[in-house]
Amino acid sequence: MIEDLETKLPHTLAHFGIFGSLGTITEGPLITDVEFKLAEGSKFAYVEKMVRDIARELGVSGIRVTEIPNSTYISFEIPQPQAQTIPFPPIVYSAEFIKSAYALPICVGVNMRGVPVMKDLSKMPHLLVAGTTGSGKSVGLNSFILSLINKKRPEDLQFVLIDPKRIEFSMYNNQKYMYTPVITDMNEASACLEQLVNEMNYRYTLFEKEMVRNIGEYQEKGLKMPYIVCVIDEFSDLIMFDKSVEKQVLMLAQKSRAAGIHLIIATQRPSVDVITGTIKANLPTRLSYKVSSPTDSMTILNYTGAEMLLGRGDSLLLEENGTLTRVLGAYVSNQDIMNMLEPYRCAEPQKFRDILAQRQQQAQQNYQSSREEPKKGMMGKFRDWWERIGKVNQRRVVNFLLAIVMGIVTNMTKSSSKKSTSDIISGAATSAAKSVKRSVKAQAKRAITQAVLDSLNKKK
Ligand SMILES: Nc1ncnc2c1ncn2[C@@H]1O[C@H](COP(=O)(O)OP(=O)(O)OP(=O)(O)O)[C@@H](O)[C@H]1O
Ligand SMILES: [Mg+2]
Repeated sequence: MIEDLETKLPHTLAHFGIFGSLGTITEGPLITDVEFKLAEGSKFAYVEKMVRDIARELGVSGIRVTEIPNSTYISFEIPQPQAQTIPFPPIVYSAEFIKSAYALPICVGVNMRGVPVMKDLSKMPHLLVAGTTGSGKSVGLNSFILSLINKKRPEDLQFVLIDPKRIEFSMYNNQKYMYTPVITDMNEASACLEQLVNEMNYRYTLFEKEMVRNIGEYQEKGLKMPYIVCVIDEFSDLIMFDKSVEKQVLMLAQKSRAAGIHLIIATQRPSVDVITGTIKANLPTRLSYKVSSPTDSMTILNYTGAEMLLGRGDSLLLEENGTLTRVLGAYVSNQDIMNMLEPYRCAEPQKFRDILAQRQQQAQQNYQSSREEPKKGMMGKFRDWWERIGKVNQRRVVNFLLAIVMGIVTNMTKSSSKKSTSDIISGAATSAAKSVKRSVKAQAKRAITQAVLDSLNKKK
């Protein structure tokens, strides 16, 4: 293949008036990457325009041409005659994945050289996935869910799976990892998203109380709080059924990162009525499988090119920092899903309504208890009383206590050894009371004198 391309590609390019020299050629599982340095003065835009015809002449489907950042070369991504399938289990069981220090590691697939691509969902902090029917979205979503399951225990991670098509996530029911059973009814989806918003707000009250800013700091204090990942397969079906879910999704997308709630939203239709500008602005990390038009590619990635992808898990990952990477998704079979889920099956089948009611009640109780005043100890009660009595009385109390101490000291020095400790203390207390009385009397006298003086002054 490489030898063929070495001669065929420059020859074909020359037919279209494109000249230059070949660079490195790398064979990957899906494509052969050919670096090419254009002759001086050539226009990249012209190559981009011609790429369909070049593919036709080479007898391949879907060549993608890109500029290599910080390089004088461009890259032709030419499909392999036989694309390889990358199985998911070897990646997720690899030492590299197991050792990864990410809070929520997901395996996106492999890059064009076959190297696994892993990302941290907690940093993304949400993921928008698009692609036409059969492009590999559901296989991708399953691989993300299973990546997380392989890395986290059920008490550290809970899933909300919304599946309007009713077929994709059914095997996740009765799992210890589920926050609620898989949601297939659209009315339940809205109720569940509402509950997630409540959960997020409740988590913020906990953070306030503990004086932390996010779930990481909360967990560092040794307190328990699971991450929640909400996956929606076919967002357009959901939003067409009930427009109000957009508000809840938006609220979560804007604020739920610190609370440890993350969204993965997939859609077949990346049109602007489904993926509105506000949703896009809050989901900066996006993964596009093959789409049907350059317009769809623009909507999801802000670049064209996803329409040239080859399907079956071939995708472009747009990261928060704007970098675009071509990734081939790893293939998860139904058997892989069954095998990985088997250890976490619950005995009891769960009903959505019961579970949601339980969750709501629990959140309500938690919220109320977090608002209740904590019980105060002796010191706390004393501090309250001290603040309540005011400055004047505080001074009196201090004077009284000082007088007692002084009294004890003078009584002890004066007294003979015959006097007992209790006599000394009672003597000191009496003299302290007298001195306080004297000071109160003196104050009263001063006040009366002042009042008399004031009235006399007025008369004058
Ligand atoms: N990473 C992959 N490697 C190999 N084959 C894949 C991969 N991803 C998907 N496929 C193939 O493509 C088929 C369709 O994939 P999938 O069901 O994920 O598509 P989809 O985008 O969810 O489609 P729909 O929108 O109709 O639900 C799979 O049954 C599988 O045969
Ligand atoms: Mg699907």
